[in-house]
Amino acid sequence: MTMAGLRALQLLTAGLVFVCFCLGSLATEVTYDGRGIKINGERRVLISGSIHYPRSTPGMWPDLIRKAKEGGLDAIETYVFWNVHEPRRRQYDFSGNLDIIRFLKTVQEAGLYAVLRIGPYVCAEWNYGGFPVWLHNLPGIQEFRTDNPVYMNEMKNFTTLIVDMIKQENLFASQGGPIIIAQIENEYGNVMGPYGDAGKTYINWCANMAESLGIGVPWVMCQQSDAPKPMINTCNGWYCDSFTPNNPNSPKMWTENWTGWFKNWGGADPHRTAEDVAYAVARFFQTGGVFQNYYMYHGGTNFGRTAGGPYIATTYDYDAPLDEYGNLNQPKWGHLKELHLVLKSMEKVLTHGDVSHTDFGNFVGATIYATNETSSCFLSNANTTTDATITFQGKQYTIPAWSVSILPDCKKEVYNTAKISAQTSVMVKKVNVAEDQPMSLKWLWRPEQITETALQGKGPMVASHLMEQKFVTNDASDYLWYMTSVNMDEKDPIWGTDLTLLVNTTGHVLHAYVNGNHIGSQWAEHGGFVFAFEKAIKLKPGRNQISLLSATVGLKNYGAMYDLTPTGILGPVALIGKKTGEEIVKDLSSNKWTFKVGLNGEEKQLYNEDLSHDSEWKSENPPTNRMMTWYKTTFKPPLGTDPVVVDLQGLGKGHAWVNGKSIGRYWPTFLSQQDGCSNTCDYRGPYSDSKCVTNCGHPSQRWYHVPRSFLRDDENTLTLFEEMGGSPYLVNFQTVTVGSACATVQEGKTLELSCQSGQTISEIRFASFGDPQGTCGSFVKGSCDAKDILSTVQNACVGKESCCIEVSKNALGAPNCGGNITKRLAVEAVC
Ligand code: GAL
Repeated sequence: MTMAGLRALQLLTAGLVFVCFCLGSLATEVTYDGRGIKINGERRVLISGSIHYPRSTPGMWPDLIRKAKEGGLDAIETYVFWNVHEPRRRQYDFSGNLDIIRFLKTVQEAGLYAVLRIGPYVCAEWNYGGFPVWLHNLPGIQEFRTDNPVYMNEMKNFTTLIVDMIKQENLFASQGGPIIIAQIENEYGNVMGPYGDAGKTYINWCANMAESLGIGVPWVMCQQSDAPKPMINTCNGWYCDSFTPNNPNSPKMWTENWTGWFKNWGGADPHRTAEDVAYAVARFFQTGGVFQNYYMYHGGTNFGRTAGGPYIATTYDYDAPLDEYGNLNQPKWGHLKELHLVLKSMEKVLTHGDVSHTDFGNFVGATIYATNETSSCFLSNANTTTDATITFQGKQYTIPAWSVSILPDCKKEVYNTAKISAQTSVMVKKVNVAEDQPMSLKWLWRPEQITETALQGKGPMVASHLMEQKFVTNDASDYLWYMTSVNMDEKDPIWGTDLTLLVNTTGHVLHAYVNGNHIGSQWAEHGGFVFAFEKAIKLKPGRNQISLLSATVGLKNYGAMYDLTPTGILGPVALIGKKTGEEIVKDLSSNKWTFKVGLNGEEKQLYNEDLSHDSEWKSENPPTNRMMTWYKTTFKPPLGTDPVVVDLQGLGKGHAWVNGKSIGRYWPTFLSQQDGCSNTCDYRGPYSDSKCVTNCGHPSQRWYHVPRSFLRDDENTLTLFEEMGGSPYLVNFQTVTVGSACATVQEGKTLELSCQSGQTISEIRFASFGDPQGTCGSFVKGSCDAKDILSTVQNACVGKESCCIEVSKNALGAPNCGGNITKRLAVEAVC
């Protein structure tokens, strides 16, 4: 046997093999053991962040990835989204923002690694969790994610297709590419109970199928405590310090550190503080973690009909370190960047050192990593309210509640998760100076043609029962008309009674019409997607037309057997007549029902500029508060390069397109809950998605991202389909940029401020070196200050895009503070 063969055999027998099937010297060998992921034999501390390629545009990718790298990331993680790549069985789409190969190459060009989570079940607040709806409609499929041959065959087919595409481009590390880790399935362990033995069979099959693809890098399975070897079981959550993988030879990995949370229609804005995210990361590395991935690092936008649900909003900002539009979300981005630098400086000792721990009681502890050459320490205080002062190796340290101090040499605190030096950026929206919007926008309109459906009940499909919505639509549209007619004559026992129409639906929005007249609409206001619509109606003698338009708002993406969750009107649908206390029910569920998928305007692609429909658009008196209406206008894009949003305040619910490209569903009339918000947010104590929410009582989403790459310099078109009724007259385009930047930095460190994207600092609104109080926008001087501090800071910063100030007496002059005061410099700059 050759030496190489012998080594392969040794690795194989150790059960840890990911030998590179090497293509010359470019290949990277990725292996692992219980202390780390080894890249070319070296154990590494790896920081990764999720950026989902379809939630941004190819035009945004280089900038997002550059900012991720600058933020201290080693790797970019993405899921693969089956439903958009294979919208019809065996018909594939990898164009535009679905160009996963281009995305991975952009990561590679930036010099970063990639983590590829093929799933192909992804959850991800993505429509149907990433499964194509045609899969549900295949004969014999029963359900997904279980020991079902039809399902498994399709899953294998898609997974193999992706792996082959990637191999062809040499994108696995084993081929010299950036991908160092791949994932199969997703959090199956959280839901597998109800699948019984079939679930166990399925997960073993997943592992074998993945292994058989021979990708040459390790596979992970997240939240899978029984992950079969050599799959690495990894953790997802807001905290993963107490996680231990099921195999002692698996490194401790965190595939989803939730940097915030997603937003629903009807939900407020979630926020997770920078202090708490940093605390969770530091605790993870203190307790032996070696790989962690921010979910999300850039959340982005659910364009088109990709939002999951039901009722996931179009924005997927996630309060991630990069905001929805790609701006730095400060201080989160900067505070984590500093943490990454410190952790990286300790890479060797964290992955090789002996570990010892001292418990100081009251949730306070010290962890020492030591090799012969060096040692590094973490001092942690998991108490949610009380700061701790401890003596450690002969020195006193104060550790704020819910924080970790990192001492790379076990002597000097270089980083504490609760002490933020990074700037806080206050983002603002600026009006579009290119034209005088909203007044300058001239609107055209046309009604959605509903006579044939609402009044005549015409549709191409007929059945003698109600049908599940996605079964009929194959998810080609949100909309499905359910239409039937009722003949009334005086002999009917229900004639002459007080009539109510009852419609039981499994969601998500219902509009009811009787004889062409809209009689009411209903949707889920508190997460009750299965609801009953009841409305008093009047019928005429003879034929009466009942037409029900059911709309889905993102298909469910999570839970055991969630794929079987029905949508649409399953009934009963009935007429209920009341006469002197007596109730007569006329069940219409088994009537002859006619179905029509989608809107006429969708079929005609009224948003598509290449198809000319101009003659049918009207300019006279565009109506307001009119349901089922299409609107169109042209606009000049905002000048400059800052990200663009469109303010859709005034509209109801619908779908928006810019130059024919969907920017997603909109629903600004859906307000977030009145209660539960707070202006202050205590980072201490475990985070949950109901903690630190803002924006109560306002539209869940008023502004919608229009990627710059969708825009032309001259004239652009905005098309809206308004389903519920609203006014387009307030619509205007804005840019999002840094309005002001603040920082508070302790003596001994450096204060850095930047206005980002080429803007310069125009003014210093506040500066104090002493014991300033308050937060950004409300700073006040404390008991002491350094002389002429304002002009010192002005000289250093005004007129510059960014500035750095050393916070010391030498640089700034000595403040007239008493001896005990920890001095800090606070600055508020206007951009
Ligand atoms: C996880 C899931 C992710 C995402 C996250 C919540 O359970 O794996 O895809 O849905 O929850 O944002």
